[in-house]
Amino acid sequence: MSSHSELLHLLGIRYPLIQAPMAGVSTPELAAAVSNAGGLGSLGLGASSVADARRQMEQTRQLTDKPFNINVFCHAPARRDAEVEAAWLQHLQPLFDGQGEPVPAQLEEIYTSFNHNDAMQELLLELRPAVVSFHFGLPPAPFVERLHRAGVITLASATSLEEACAIEAAGIHAVVAQGIEAGGHRGMFDPDAQDSQLTTTALVSLLVNECRLPVIAAGGIMDGADIQAMLALGAAAVQLGTAFVACPESAANEAYRQRLLHAGAGDTRLTRTLSGRPARGLLNRFIDHGEAAGAPVVPDYPVAYDAAKRLHGAAARQACHDFAAHWAGTGVQRARLLPAAGLVSRLLKEAGIQVADGVY
Ligand SMILES: Cc1cc2nc3c(=O)[nH]c(=O)nc-3n(C[C@H](O)[C@H](O)[C@H](O)COP(=O)(O)O)c2cc1C
Repeated sequence: MSSHSELLHLLGIRYPLIQAPMAGVSTPELAAAVSNAGGLGSLGLGASSVADARRQMEQTRQLTDKPFNINVFCHAPARRDAEVEAAWLQHLQPLFDGQGEPVPAQLEEIYTSFNHNDAMQELLLELRPAVVSFHFGLPPAPFVERLHRAGVITLASATSLEEACAIEAAGIHAVVAQGIEAGGHRGMFDPDAQDSQLTTTALVSLLVNECRLPVIAAGGIMDGADIQAMLALGAAAVQLGTAFVACPESAANEAYRQRLLHAGAGDTRLTRTLSGRPARGLLNRFIDHGEAAGAPVVPDYPVAYDAAKRLHGAAARQACHDFAAHWAGTGVQRARLLPAAGLVSRLLKEAGIQVADGVY
């Protein structure tokens, strides 16, 4: 069996196309539409409460009987540093002042890492989604074993060969090779490690040659020609995020959709200013200010995100979206406004992947 058909068989899907999990943007409607169209829909639950995660999974199950993927964040907890946080808040003061909003007295670690969230781990074991994927690292080995014993297929993001080797050693079923073009957070296990910033093409080629796991290509893939190129390199499937953000089924608000659909090439930036971890998004006033000469060190993820979210919340109440985290990859200029099922069939057609007649 080729790695391509092996992966499709493992995931229980018809086409080698995955809608990326996107915390805050993916929805049950989006994931179900992609799964019903024969791809793999995903829910990004890295920032969700246990109750919200349960609701989203149950809702998705009502909309599809096909497999879908649940994604969680396995980051190391933030190292709290009162001086760094105070200096960062002081740097952001003019932006808060501009919104007539007091600067927060202190920041919070707004999400608990999945690795320290027993209730979320138990929820996944109880609901047993067909697929679970990990970003920012790996969960503890005993949990991976329990998931596998429950029949769940696992995926994890790698931005380097070293991370892919760790994923393989952990017994994960397939690796998501996330290139530097990707929208959203880089899945680096350690955000302070040296980053070789490999392109999707370079990383996919490397992992196809050096790893035994099926490789899923992610980053800058926007159309059928991109998909063809990745499959020709030996990728077993592709994972697209930015291409799905503008779909009507996503949770992106109107301001995000408009910026996305009117973005030019070169309008994205890899920055840690918004959240505390490197992530690619559409350039805005927050990033400009956060990266200005002499700006202080950004607090750890997700403590820095608390500041950005509070500022954006205050600004958004006045219809200002200059400080939002509008994650997008370098292919953003080629984003299209299509319903998810229509986008999947357009992508497959462009890639020359034969689509079975009738409803999948
Ligand atoms: C809006 C947005 C949110 C994202 N959130 C997540 C997430 O919650 N978990 C995750 O593993 N990857 C997340 N990613 C990264 C994707 O998994 C994937 O690597 C990326 O979208 C691929 O690049 P592309 O956006 O150019 O298609 C996100 C990407 C975007 C655009």
